[in-house]
Amino acid sequence: MFSKALLTTVLISAVSAHQNWHQLWINDVTPGYQTGIRMPPSNSPVTDVTSNDIVCNVKNPNAGAVATVAAKEGDKIKVQWDQSGHPGPITHFLFGPVDDAATATGVGAGWIKIDELDNVGGKWANEIMGANNMTHEFKLPTGLASGEYLLRSEMLALHGAQTLGGGQFYMGCAQLKITGTGSKGGCTPTISLPGAYKASDPNIFIPNVYNGFDASKYTAPGGPVAVCGGAGGAAPSVPSASAAPAPGNSTVPIETPASSIVAPISTAAPTEAAPAESEAPVESSSVIVAKTSSVASVLPTLAPYPTNNATVPVTKPVRTTLATHVRPRPTYVGGAVTSEGAATPTGGSGAVKLYYQCGGNNWKGATTCVTGAKCVKQNEFYSQCL
Ligand SMILES: *[C@@H]1O[C@H](CO)[C@@H](O)[C@H](O)[C@H]1NC(C)=O
Ligand SMILES: *[C@@H]1O[C@H](CO)[C@@H](O)[C@H](O)[C@H]1NC(C)=O
Ligand SMILES: *[C@@H]1O[C@H](CO)[C@@H](O)[C@H](O)[C@H]1NC(C)=O
Repeated sequence: MFSKALLTTVLISAVSAHQNWHQLWINDVTPGYQTGIRMPPSNSPVTDVTSNDIVCNVKNPNAGAVATVAAKEGDKIKVQWDQSGHPGPITHFLFGPVDDAATATGVGAGWIKIDELDNVGGKWANEIMGANNMTHEFKLPTGLASGEYLLRSEMLALHGAQTLGGGQFYMGCAQLKITGTGSKGGCTPTISLPGAYKASDPNIFIPNVYNGFDASKYTAPGGPVAVCGGAGGAAPSVPSASAAPAPGNSTVPIETPASSIVAPISTAAPTEAAPAESEAPVESSSVIVAKTSSVASVLPTLAPYPTNNATVPVTKPVRTTLATHVRPRPTYVGGAVTSEGAATPTGGSGAVKLYYQCGGNNWKGATTCVTGAKCVKQNEFYSQCL
């Protein structure tokens, strides 16, 4: 009995620890794996919605070691999480403009929801993403004020939502420098984080989640998607070419809180799928800069490093029909989750993949786990391959 209790404890902590946002693409061009995103130290969920950890996870703001990525209002953003076998929505929020995205905590008022995917056609966002290599796309709103922002990606796991405090929030924040045409405060409504969520909210605590709950009517926490006012009179800031900083020091230590701006750089194999005009995806990387050696090692090509971080011009991403054909980088650098990258709920043989649901009272899917994993009951309604 003792050992069983111990085992259960171990399993529960394993269960609760397993998804992160790892990569983003801006108009199909990525700055790199885990680049521009504040990676939390683990993939555990946050369950206390009143904690500051609910904002950008537990390592916030990450001591300036994260690059800030250039984008424009209206740009298409694609996010890729490592996996999620937990039912629930995905939402995206923006906070800003802030003086420096590298040091902003995002704690407090001023967040806007810019994207939400709940349950469509009986499938939760995590399943829909699972069918798309764990990716999801949305657009930055137009009418944003130019400046630096935090982009927050949140996946809420509802498999334990029948218990108060059982909702599991997974989130990460990216640092963006957005060129826009709006004015500060031009998007409403805004919410506070923490503050906007309460453990007892009906979209977080769902006593009947496994028993009569109508997922088709579900809407994720954080209120409605904000509306931005469009051009608010503020002139968009267009950096002139002459403002480019002189090339300089490339050895900024990783501990330095200084920020840098990284324009999205196409993946390691950008031309592989590209027809004739192969220059397109690469041009958008012409200005770019990485400030840490770890970031630099991920980027295939680097422009000269500027000496300072405040005046790096934002490159205009090159719009091209090729962009949609850029293939993901062939190697998945630095992650411990490589084998789970192609996240689909079941393997070709019908076996359920690691961490996915394999049982529960109303479960109609496969119940056999892939080799090496066992179907472990978490509660009456949810068993998971571990
Ligand atoms: C899925 O994403 C991973 C990581 O980005 C990538 O390596 C892999 O090629 C993708 N698979 C497909 C089928 O696109
Ligand atoms: C580069 O910056 C580092 C840290 O500020 C400094 O110690 C070093 O002397 C600089 N090197 C050059 C060549 O300017
Ligand atoms: C770079 O950014 C840091 C953090 O915001 C700031 O303290 C520093 O003054 C900036 N450096 C320059 C040269 O602008």
